[in-house]
Amino acid sequence: KRIFAFSIRKDEEPYVKEWAKSHPEIEVGYTDELLSPKTAKYAEGADGVVVYQQLSYTAETLQALADQGITKMSLRNVGVDNVDLAKAKELGFEITNVPVYSPNAIAEHAAIQTARILRQTKVLDEKIENGDLRWAPTIGREVRDQTVGVIGTGHIGRVYMQIMEGFGAKVIAFDPYENAELKAKGYYVNTLDELYAQADVISLHVPATKENTHMINSSSIAKMKDDVVLVNCSRGALVDTDAVIKALDKGKVAGFVMDTYEDEVGIFNADWRNKTFPDKRLEDLIHRSNVLVTPHTAFYTTHAVRNMVLKAFDNNCELIHGKPADTPVKID
Ligand code: NAD
Ligand code: COI
Repeated sequence: KRIFAFSIRKDEEPYVKEWAKSHPEIEVGYTDELLSPKTAKYAEGADGVVVYQQLSYTAETLQALADQGITKMSLRNVGVDNVDLAKAKELGFEITNVPVYSPNAIAEHAAIQTARILRQTKVLDEKIENGDLRWAPTIGREVRDQTVGVIGTGHIGRVYMQIMEGFGAKVIAFDPYENAELKAKGYYVNTLDELYAQADVISLHVPATKENTHMINSSSIAKMKDDVVLVNCSRGALVDTDAVIKALDKGKVAGFVMDTYEDEVGIFNADWRNKTFPDKRLEDLIHRSNVLVTPHTAFYTTHAVRNMVLKAFDNNCELIHGKPADTPVKID
């Protein structure tokens, strides 16, 4: 049997080799190129493919794989919002993802950035680099004085809650599917509006579904406390960026952490040095002292990357042997 992997980065290569070494019965091939209608042919003769990319898995791309008889696809990441699932269903694809490769990677990043915003470290760093070593007016807010509202108490949201509690914050949460343990401990508020009314920091840990698109918008922001800090290490589509910019300008929102951005595809994870930066709105956000932009790197740790590669190959191995994979993606 043969598995072919697309867009393998240098930092993933050792883990691909580690997996191949422990599975000598499987022929493993890979490329650093993204899967597209043009590159699909590299997988010729493979029984399954292992992929990760923010570029869409379009109908045309899926068709190019299916034309070669390949319908078993294992994603190395969580999100499947860039897969044309209707086409995948039509072509009889079986898809797996890696839903839990390291919730800590993302939760820890979100927590670090939350604390940095509250202590104004970006402003301090800029001042210090410019020789201004005065304290005022760069005064911080202590995490323990904040009520932190967590939207989505799945794998990542729960770890974020623990870390913020470790800092001493009061943590409240909202999730339509409540976790029994958290419920028993009294973390949940009944509605998002209650969370908006009480939270000093709001962190999003929900998927980008149709219902959740732009859940943070001018009317939800209007329900929030003054000087609220917004944290989005989840998906760009959850936030109406223009609404947040207006609220930052008015001073209603005191800080914005964004590891994800609604127009990030083609911009994040690219080198714009010596080139014209392609997005004026993002450029403006990057240069604001109360906005922390990271280019979708919350997940990017050695722990997470190793798990993503090993688990995706394990999944694909199950699929190509006709066995049920641990973490199938529901296609309906
Ligand atoms: P999960 O499936 O374990 O948890 C998601 C939770 O969100 C579920 O409990 C669900 O009931 C809840 N939810 C859905 N809609 C909601 C709403 N409107 N209000 C409140 N709760 C709602 O997922 P996870 O592993 O915790 O990941 C969360 C998200 O993080 C993913 O969907 C993905 O978009 C994002 N993510 C980002 C990175 C990154 O590098 N920045 C990496 C991995 C995942
Ligand atoms: C996911 O796993 O869904 C992510 O958001 C991280 C991705 C950039 C690998």
